[in-house]
This record gives sequence, structure tokens and C-alpha cells, in this order.
Amino acid sequence: PRNGAFVLRAELLSFDADPGDDDTPLPGSVRHLADGALWVEHGRIRAVGDYARLAPQLPEGIEIIDHRGKLIMPGFIDSHVHYVQLDIMASFGRQLLDWLNDYTFPEECRFAAREHADAIAEAFLEELLRVGTTSAQVFGSSHPGSIDAFFAASQRRGLRMLAGKVLMDRHAPEALTDDTLGGIRDSERLIADWHGKGRLGYSVTPRFAPTSTRAQLDAAGGLLRSDPSLWLQTHLAENTGEIAWVAELFPESQDYLHVYEQSGLVGPRSTFAHGIHLDDNMRTRLAERGANIAFCPSSNMFLGSGLFDRRAAREAGLGVSVASDIGAGTDLSGLATLKAAYQVGQLRGQALTAWQGFYALTLGNAKALSLEGNIGRLAEGMEADFVVLDTSATPLLARRTARCETLAERLFALMMLGDDRAIAETWANGRCQHRRDEG
Ligand code: GUN
Ligand code: ZN
Repeated sequence: PRNGAFVLRAELLSFDADPGDDDTPLPGSVRHLADGALWVEHGRIRAVGDYARLAPQLPEGIEIIDHRGKLIMPGFIDSHVHYVQLDIMASFGRQLLDWLNDYTFPEECRFAAREHADAIAEAFLEELLRVGTTSAQVFGSSHPGSIDAFFAASQRRGLRMLAGKVLMDRHAPEALTDDTLGGIRDSERLIADWHGKGRLGYSVTPRFAPTSTRAQLDAAGGLLRSDPSLWLQTHLAENTGEIAWVAELFPESQDYLHVYEQSGLVGPRSTFAHGIHLDDNMRTRLAERGANIAFCPSSNMFLGSGLFDRRAAREAGLGVSVASDIGAGTDLSGLATLKAAYQVGQLRGQALTAWQGFYALTLGNAKALSLEGNIGRLAEGMEADFVVLDTSATPLLARRTARCETLAERLFALMMLGDDRAIAETWANGRCQHRRDEG
């Protein structure tokens, strides 16, 4: 079924609110239908309900896709990822600043060529869909063509995506360094061409404080003030060497976050990746502005950056999204990201429940990105982005889930043992865009 109407019959799981951190989700937060119907029309969800209740209301002859035995959730969302780093995943043995110089910057130089950007954008979206991710907030390189390529590829698939060209006017190779205001003009051109077009949105993207002058950060803030519908993405307090460098470069700022505050970059549509080394004062300031931290557990372990304190962030009222952060992240998969988040949580004495994990991947991330009016739930009027999961996709998963007595146990097994083989299908914009090969 392409654009018409159809119904999927399956087990359905979706969140209406944050389930909280306890073993039992807060009342009213989880919607679970053992035999549900998801009625899709023109790329949107027309209705959701128990199959038996909805069946009499369905138009005669409507196609019914029988996925009984499978579990449908909203498409997964990745709040922070670098598409231009796909090919340097798993580059050995460095922490942040050396990793950037040795692997990342040389790789990003390749995106000067539009054909290269087109090819990697395609490959990246294929990989995202393979793991059930239907929306992401994405860094390009500093070349505007990297974002033209990414948005064009997303537009062809009808995906809801946020992205921006990196702003960087110092401390990077010449070939990647913007002219201070030239980078802003390039961003403005990309905004005019792509922001609000179809399902695309623009995130103003200063890489991080060390690679932008104050003048460029201020100009980025000016851009945000000129249009409150823009997003902002950057990095914050990931690594101790980085933090010491920021203190040297911005002696007039009280702390790392203050550098961004002074340029007007901290607001409800701002995502700060990592935020590992924050104090309560910075957490509170971020929370008061409605910003969110993208927790990137596989990246944080890969670069040896540290163990994110999720509980402290939540207690400060600070929104926490979850993200792969590839190429420092080791896996694009949302399931793998949750597994890593659980492991980081264990090392901090704050185990992540499956409820909290799957909430974060769906409605939680949608809210963090101010996209909850469009995506993140299986509910009437939402855009039809969803993932069809097979919780017995592998012999091991089948053995393990056969023993599960509760939904919580099954979801936890999926989060710890699942990988791309558990993603039977990925649907976006009302059509099936990935189907796992059988055999
Ligand atoms: N800080 C500045 N740039 C980057 C990047 O590309 N990846 C990560 N993990 N941290 C950064
Ligand atoms: Zn990053």
C-alpha cells in the first residue's frame, strides 16, 4: 500500500507520558494493546485501538496487514548523530580531542565532494531504517553541500529529519574552517532552502565552543533569535581535556555552559550532546531554559569520556534524550543504545528500566526535540512512522522471550539481546521502507 489507507493488526506499544523510573510505569503512561489495529491513511495515523473494537468501523475492503505475533512501536528517534562519521566508526584507541584530529577531521574533509556526500547520506539513511530509526537530529560537515545532500536524501524518503551544517571557524584543518560570517550565511541559505520544507527542519550547528570564535557563536545566537522555529545542536562537557581547553579559550566565562549562554544558544529547542561533567548549577540552568542533554552511552564508553549521571539530570528537571552519536558511538541501533545506557546506569547504581528506555527512544526523544506533535506515539493524527519488532527474531531471543511472563521482562530482553535482526520492518511516512531479509 503506497499512499492509500490500510490497517496493521499486531501487538501495539506506545507511551502517552513519562513512565517514571520505577519498575512499574506511572498510571496512564503506557498504552499496550495485545491485539491492536493501527489504521493508516495518507501517511498519518487515522485511528488506533483494539482490533475487535475497531474492526466494525473499518471501510469495506480496506487492506489488513496481519502482523499478529509482532510488536509495533513508534519509529525510534536519535537525538544526536553525525552522518558524516559513518565510515570512521570503530577507529581505535583515542579520547575526544585526539580522535577528532586523527580520524574525524580528515574524514569530514571528504564531504567537499557532493557525490561523496550523496553516497554517504544514502548509506546512512539505509542503516538508520535497518535499525528502526525514522527520525534523527544530524550533524553534517562544515560544507553546506553535505546538508543539501542529506536533506535531499531524506526528502526523497519522506523522513522527518533535523540537520545542520557544522559551524567551525578555528582550531580545525583549513579545508574545514569557515569564514566566521560566511558559515552563518551558508546556514541562512540552507534554512531558506530546507527549513520547514516537507518534514525537514534546520538545526543551527556550532560544533562546540573550542572550534568557534565568540563572534561566530554570537552570530549563531542571532540566527536563532531571528526565527524561534529553528533548532540548535552542539556538544557540552564531554571530556575533561576539552573542558580545560574551553576554560583557557573563554576566560571571561564562568563555566562551559556560560560560553553558550552568553551567545544566546540555550533554549527549549537546544540539544547539548553528552553533558557528562556538569554540576548541579549547570543542570539547573539548562533545565530552566528547557534545553535537553543527549545522553550518548556507547560513544561515552568508546571515547572513555565518563559515565553520564542520568539521575542527577532528571532530579534537576533537565530533559535527557538518548542518542547514538556515531562515529564515536559504536552502534546506530536504538536497542544497542539502550543496552549501553543500561550498562552505564549499572556502573552508576541507577539501572535503566525498559519502560524508561523505550519511552526515551520514542516519545521522550520526540518531546526533547519539540516534535511530539508529529511523531513519537501511536495515536490519531500522528505521522505514520513506526517499527515492527520481532521479539523472537533470533534463536536466543526466541528462547529468552518464551520464558518471559510480563511485558516488562520481554521489553528488557529485547533491549539487551535485540539488534537489527529484531527489526522486521520499518515504516516511515506511511510506507514500508525497510523489510528484513528472511533467510
Ligand atoms: N565534540 C566536538 N565534535 C565532536 C564530535 O564530532 N563527536 C563527539 N563525540 N564529540 C565532539
Ligand atoms: Zn557528537
